[in-house]
Amino acid sequence: MTQDLWTAVDSYYTDLLVAQDSVLEAALVDSEAAGLPAINVAPNQGKLLMFIAQLMGARSILEVGTLGGYSTIWLARSLPADGKLVTLELSADNAAVARRNLDRAGFNGQVEIKVGPAIETLPMLAGDPRTPFDLVFIDADKVNTAAYFEWALKLTRPGSLIIVDNVVRKGAVIDGSSEDISVQGIRKFNDAVAANPRVTATAVQTVGSKGYDGLALVRVLA
Ligand code: SAH
Ligand code: DHB
Ligand code: MG
Repeated sequence: MTQDLWTAVDSYYTDLLVAQDSVLEAALVDSEAAGLPAINVAPNQGKLLMFIAQLMGARSILEVGTLGGYSTIWLARSLPADGKLVTLELSADNAAVARRNLDRAGFNGQVEIKVGPAIETLPMLAGDPRTPFDLVFIDADKVNTAAYFEWALKLTRPGSLIIVDNVVRKGAVIDGSSEDISVQGIRKFNDAVAANPRVTATAVQTVGSKGYDGLALVRVLA
């Protein structure tokens, strides 16, 4: 019961229910052609992100880690016509791919990509008219996840949701002595969440075409 089966089941449900259209497919084709790694969320995960944003009535979304803009398109599709999304990306090359993918998806006016280390671009959002963000999706370098979470708390409001990708890492997250800096980064984030009375959180493990990993969902209380 491992990768081949997880991928087959993802294909079954994605083919049956997710109905990925040509714009999303083109985003992945062009990302691959540009040499980007295939570490985007899976189609069924992207649709889940869209649903969560829609169910919340999100009008303003922040993403940390754009890559080619695949998850960005799913999230942006949840927005009302006057909704806004800001996505942060270290690599100017990745951002250029994402810009083309987002423009083709019709989000040239609604989505801003800020290029640079997120630890430098997040402070620029303090006082931005698009704040407080209703939803934050953190999916960048795992070593800095705790720092991005602290910024997400500054840029949100009570009732906002912060979703963090890749919090299971094939189960490695439970190894406190791991020498993997990504694992240590996620554990530092987890400890910060657990110690923070301003939030309430859950985490779920996932398997699928992207392997064995998981999502944390953190609700801002105050
Ligand atoms: N959310 C995307 C996948 C993001 S992959 C999707 O699901 O489609 C992680 C991205 O984070 C990569 O593009 C990487 O360049 C970016 N990243 C890595 N370190 C970063 C940093 N310090 N600041 C901002 N982005 C960073
Ligand atoms: C990696 C990053 C991701 O955001 C992801 O979803 C999967 C893998 C990575 O850096 O390996
Ligand atoms: Mg991820």
